[in-house]
Amino acid sequence: MDKKVGVKILSSGSYVPEKVLTNFDLEKMVETSDEWISTRTGIKERRILDKSQTTSDLAYNAAVKAIEKAKISVDDIDLIIVATISPDAPMPSTACYLQKKLKAFNAVAFDISAACSGFIYGTTMAKAFITSGLYKKVLVVGVEALSRVTDWTDRNTCVLFGDGAGAMIFEASETENDIVSTYLGADGTHTKILNIPAGGATLPTTQETVEQRLHFVKMVGKEVFKVAVSKMALAVNKAQELAGLTDNDINLYIPHQANLRIIEAVAKKAGVTKEKVYVNVHKYGNMSAATTIIALDEAYREGRIKKGDLVELVAFGAGLTWGACILKINF
Ligand code: UT7
Repeated sequence: MDKKVGVKILSSGSYVPEKVLTNFDLEKMVETSDEWISTRTGIKERRILDKSQTTSDLAYNAAVKAIEKAKISVDDIDLIIVATISPDAPMPSTACYLQKKLKAFNAVAFDISAACSGFIYGTTMAKAFITSGLYKKVLVVGVEALSRVTDWTDRNTCVLFGDGAGAMIFEASETENDIVSTYLGADGTHTKILNIPAGGATLPTTQETVEQRLHFVKMVGKEVFKVAVSKMALAVNKAQELAGLTDNDINLYIPHQANLRIIEAVAKKAGVTKEKVYVNVHKYGNMSAATTIIALDEAYREGRIKKGDLVELVAFGAGLTWGACILKINF
């Protein structure tokens, strides 16, 4: 009889571009203030990629760190999943650009589009592919160059986003079960409250779509806020229920960093110990699919995560999509 296949997490890695854009810089670009941005969101600054860089460059920098830490050869990677809503190009996938840059030519590569929940969706796919026996060493990257799809004249959105990338490597294991549980959700009835309207088959690019600035992220912030709080709180509790765990068992929570007020409201609604909630939104803003994995990698490097700790990630984004996963950090 075949042995049961589990998943071992080998490493994480992350990369943020050097350029810092502060709230004070934004005051010179749109009608806003550090006071408004700080009190409404908790964000103080964000990173912006260099003109010479693209999404797959950010992904590459994060992936290389994870690969080096895992002490594996790129030739061993047999699957690359990239979660992003700001790809290098509409076609082909950013995962294929990344595969080429890494020279990981033994890997199958594709993108997924689940916005801010992308890393949790990707992790869930890694688990499914590994436990089914299809692939053995999987690189999952959450990466965004949101500054390239941000309308820098729209104060409702441009103060919120930043660029960055995070990566994690998973491998098949007969003894470990480091992806302890995952829970995902989606509701396509809310597609209009957070989207990039043009550039797809519905509204192909024309002079008018460009003039109307329809190729940038649009958001009805208040509506998104409400669903975000209720679905993230639900996801936190569901992932624990699926694992037979409670708040007592979780060492650190890593919520999606879109807004400090959302993070605090989710913690309260889900009944989690707030001292165990990791926050870095002030430094980076909302980096969509890259957010939770960058936060996990930073928390690990800061010593906030010890070997054997259970870390719960939770996120919410366009779609609408949401999800949570509990990871055992044993590397
Ligand atoms: O990653 C997942 C997706 N995104 C999110 O989870 C974000 C969810 N939403 C939010 O975080 C919040 O809704 C925002 C931070 C986007 C907005 O906060 P809010 O408390 O919901 O503010 P609001 O939209 O009700 O706006 C209040 C006022 C408005 O003025 P009036 O109409 O009351 O006169 C806005 O025009 O604030 C104004 N405003 C600004 N003022 C200064 C909006 N953006 C700005 C700004 N600076 N940057």
